Amino acid sequence: PHAHARIRSIEGWSIDRQILSAEAGEPVGITLEDQVFVERGETISHIDDAPIETNVFRARIFWLGASPMAVRNRYTLRIGTAETDVDVERIERVVDTADLNAAATEDVPRDAVADVVLRSRAMLALDAASDNPRTGRFVLADGYDIVGGGLIDMEGYPDQRQLITRRSSNLTAVEHAVTEEMRAVRNGHRGGVLWFTGLSGAGKSTLAIELERRLFQNGYLVFVLDGDNVRNGLNANLGFSPDDRAENIRRVGEVASLMAQAGFIVLSAFISPYRSDRERARLAVGNDRFHEVYVSASLDVCEGRDPKGLYSRARAGEILDFTGISAPYEPPEACEIEIDTGNLDLNDSLEKLLRYVEQRFPVTPGT
Ligand code: ADX
Repeated sequence: PHAHARIRSIEGWSIDRQILSAEAGEPVGITLEDQVFVERGETISHIDDAPIETNVFRARIFWLGASPMAVRNRYTLRIGTAETDVDVERIERVVDTADLNAAATEDVPRDAVADVVLRSRAMLALDAASDNPRTGRFVLADGYDIVGGGLIDMEGYPDQRQLITRRSSNLTAVEHAVTEEMRAVRNGHRGGVLWFTGLSGAGKSTLAIELERRLFQNGYLVFVLDGDNVRNGLNANLGFSPDDRAENIRRVGEVASLMAQAGFIVLSAFISPYRSDRERARLAVGNDRFHEVYVSASLDVCEGRDPKGLYSRARAGEILDFTGISAPYEPPEACEIEIDTGNLDLNDSLEKLLRYVEQRFPVTPGT
């Protein structure tokens, strides 16, 4: 994550008068007013023109490695003077430079050009190559060997900077006099979140609404947060751009966390296509009471159902950035429970979910 600091002075080599400004390309030293921890490879930028922060990006690469690039392989990314590990998450398209045919394949052979998605563990500060060619390009190494180079393209991925910016300071947390323990005793069970994720049409809302009904009947304090509803109120100012989706999920994660603290079992039904957003929600709620439910119906199945006619409109180009068609969906890597509604009917899906909730949230008679 980034920090703000004011420049106290600029130092030049072999110049003893004071320097008041420096241009791109000039080597200078700077002294900051505030103490900030700066590591090798970190970037300094103007406040209004900061690089994007992300741990996942799309890139067009040129592959030089003797062995092909393959999904899940790990390489060293060198960007500016920074160096970090990245995993190949997806290979979207490979162009064979010999015949210029494009194909979707599992790996990228030597001398091919490809569109890939790379993910790092650490946050990176970078730019799309179209915005800044200097900071938007990188080199990939495998051990000591240079195996590729590429240009960054952020299409389809959010800038995570705004999500980790805290705008106010001087805050002190207020302690509740009613503890979570007291609430759990009163309600008969603890609060928590079942976080449904999956494509549009996978059945998230249907499952959540029916599960809510049954849990309510069984005495649970339960509430559904649904994308189409929350986007009418709290998130009415958000659309479907990558940044807006990320903010949508950030807010829902925080609301779900509050409601879980209040003692509810929250069933949240949002596409939540980005893994990093779901991880952030998990952090907000707390890992021990966050349960990721992957509603895993395939794109074929969801498009076949097309309950709102959105897929056919997306195919016709009438809806842009449509998840699964023209915007990414990143399936969970380690969800707590998977419901494949393509193979399981509504009743069996609900039984599975009910058993899961009864196990994780046992009910004891209230007081
Ligand atoms: S999310 O990606 O930000 O998590 P969310 O679950 O809130 O999405 O909203 C998804 C719902 O919005 C879909 O069920 C669909 O009805 C509607 N929708 C409208 N435009 C889009 C779009 N471009 N991509 C996906 N869903 C869309």
